[in-house]
Amino acid sequence: MSVLCVEDLRGGYSEVDILNGVDLALDAGEILTIAGTNGAGKSTLAKAVVGLLPRVCGRVVLDGVDITHMPTERRAQGGIGYVPQVANVFPSLAVFENLEVVEGVRDRKARIAELFALFPALAERKRMRAGSLSGGERQQLAYARALMTRPRVVVLDEPTAALAPALVKDSLARVASLATDGTAVLLIEQRARQALAISHRGAIMDGGRVAMSGAADTLLADERAADLYLGHI
Ligand SMILES: Nc1ncnc2c1ncn2[C@@H]1O[C@H](COP(=O)(O)OP(=O)(O)OP(=O)(O)O)[C@@H](O)[C@H]1O
Ligand SMILES: [Mg+2]
Repeated sequence: MSVLCVEDLRGGYSEVDILNGVDLALDAGEILTIAGTNGAGKSTLAKAVVGLLPRVCGRVVLDGVDITHMPTERRAQGGIGYVPQVANVFPSLAVFENLEVVEGVRDRKARIAELFALFPALAERKRMRAGSLSGGERQQLAYARALMTRPRVVVLDEPTAALAPALVKDSLARVASLATDGTAVLLIEQRARQALAISHRGAIMDGGRVAMSGAADTLLADERAADLYLGHI
């Protein structure tokens, strides 16, 4: 059974639908890249999955439980981690305090140590105020915060957007290692080719729908996907 299922998902911020019937499924340990042009509805889909979209119909199912209308905090406790496109951290708190304040964590100290091993740049800056971090470091902190509860599904909205090109590979490698441990990852990325290269499957959104989907290597080799969405390099 899929960990996460999205069925005929529609909705938006007002009476206008931004999502026009999205279907997708995600298994444990699987990385699904969501690509598509600006404004295609990728972040809106992420918000619907984590419970931040004001109006939704259709179904979001986590481990067989319908969570379509469940409050965001309960989804977080139920196993969905989320890193929004604009990283939200507490700027006045130190890096380690940003991790300490996450609720619903077992073995808090051990988990923080594990995450500092995964994010060495954060370990080096653990006593610095989060507000003084670079955009990329802040993104890492938001990511580490989302992982504190050991979620079964992680929704990452453009995790590499604020990163210098040299750091992108590291960041995607971290995503890949997360999936190796059994976490399911919904990975929204502008750098679609690089993201597909570490993914099992991909879905390309256009106009609030999934326009193309399939195995990552099939999409990477697809001429039409390249012409319309991915580019040729
Ligand atoms: N808070 C909001 N209120 C109203 N409309 C919004 C809001 N956020 C996004 N939209 C609209 O929803 C549509 C889809 O936006 P969304 O942010 O989901 O696209 P995206 O695929 O994530 O784009 P990008 O690649 O630029 O991040 C756009 O037309 C956008 O203007
Ligand atoms: Mg977006």
